[in-house]
Amino acid sequence: MYISTSRSVVKDLLNSSAAQQQIRVCGWVRSVRRGKDVAFIALNDGSCQGSLQVVVAASLLQAPAMAALGTGACIVAQGDLVASPAAGQSWEMQADQLELLGGVDAAYPLQKKRHSFEYLRSIAHLRPRANTFGAVFRMRSALAFAVHQFFQERGFLYVHTPIITTNDCEGAGEMFRVTTLDAIQPPMNSGQVDWAQDFFGDKAGLTVSGQLQGELFAMAFADIYTFGPTFRAENSHTSRHASEFWMIEPEMAFADLARNCEVAEEFFRYLVTWSLERCGDDLAFFNQRIAPGLIDRLEQLARAQFHRVTYSEAIKLLQQSGRAFEFPVAWGLDLQSEHERYLTEDVFAGPVFVIDYPQQIKAFYMRRNDDNKTVAAMDLLVPRVGEIIGGSQREERLEVLEQRMIAHGIDPASLDWYLDTRRWGSCPHAGFGLGFERLLMYLTGMENIRDVIPFPRTPGSARF
Ligand code: 4AD
Ligand code: MG
Repeated sequence: MYISTSRSVVKDLLNSSAAQQQIRVCGWVRSVRRGKDVAFIALNDGSCQGSLQVVVAASLLQAPAMAALGTGACIVAQGDLVASPAAGQSWEMQADQLELLGGVDAAYPLQKKRHSFEYLRSIAHLRPRANTFGAVFRMRSALAFAVHQFFQERGFLYVHTPIITTNDCEGAGEMFRVTTLDAIQPPMNSGQVDWAQDFFGDKAGLTVSGQLQGELFAMAFADIYTFGPTFRAENSHTSRHASEFWMIEPEMAFADLARNCEVAEEFFRYLVTWSLERCGDDLAFFNQRIAPGLIDRLEQLARAQFHRVTYSEAIKLLQQSGRAFEFPVAWGLDLQSEHERYLTEDVFAGPVFVIDYPQQIKAFYMRRNDDNKTVAAMDLLVPRVGEIIGGSQREERLEVLEQRMIAHGIDPASLDWYLDTRRWGSCPHAGFGLGFERLLMYLTGMENIRDVIPFPRTPGSARF
């Protein structure tokens, strides 16, 4: 009976403008109520938060095989879509045929209405069927499309930067190794592993950022973006760090730091507005169940002015705060998440760009300012999540860039291809990276990054 071309989608049925005859729905049972004459099945197919009520004659459930029809079972039902007498739904299905595709038994873990997110993480293979994760992953899909829409509308070229690479863009030493060498007895040369004998003839790893390759493309196509997975072997056990996460990285030739902030602001606002306009049902769910006040906050943000403050001013604000922070605050030290949250939540009560950081705490590629102390960096901080975007104007002057590499302990020869763009046809350019999961945390109100990515990878955990 189950021919997918003739399958009606629950979302369309719930929004139907008229009754329909002999339609077929397929999906997973959320609950079954068996009465004397009829049974009520709540059927969900992932297309939306709501379930379709399927009403069947109790006799249809009498067959012994139907004992396996319970919460979590997969069924196909056929019948008419009729106006529902029940409150809270316009339509229901009066089914005259029912087929059990996949039964369940009492061990099915998603029996209860509510489970802790922690427990659901331990069954990440089944949690897509839970209401919250239905909403999360529908939003994730919609927002991925919005990202492309934003850049494509503006003529940006989408470039697929490599996943395997020999360069550590951020220079933070957080790369996962990719190797085919023998783990116990690798070939050695003068007491060191001889990477020249490895698969790629060099020490290779998983990319931490597509930026450097993105810059090469920006110097041919002017406006480009990447959107792909990035990997960091950073041993952070926080609710905002994942070892594998997705990043969106635009890179723009002929742009300076101010232009970079403008585009980041427009982009962020676009994504917030998109979710308000197109993800209404799922946002309503988050607003009601996960983060009360969420929709108001997003609507405010869509209208809000994004503040700009220099790092030096931010340090003063933190020093004058009278707060006892866990980490020290002094010019030259990096901002910790408690500092970032104080700035965005208490001082500005909204999004804020912090710009012009000390050069020693930022990556080698950021453009040195005329004060010779700071670089043209920008981080966008937002309430609750903290840093959501990091970017900069890039150093386009060959000599300065070489000096900065040496100061950061990077051998310029190892990035000769990158330096070539500064040798030939160099130009001012800028770009940034938006962490896709941090964006989703912001938009959904979910508090742990592990709950906005389908199969989270964090230290000690890569199951499923
Ligand atoms: O600030 P980051 O490290 O910047 C870069 O990688 C630059 N190459 C971007 C660029 O200029 N093209 O990372 C950018 C963003 C952060 O602001 C944060 O949102 C996210 O990526 N991010 C992470 N998200 C989840 N887990 C982690 N471990 C993350 N590290 C960074
Ligand atoms: Mg950063």
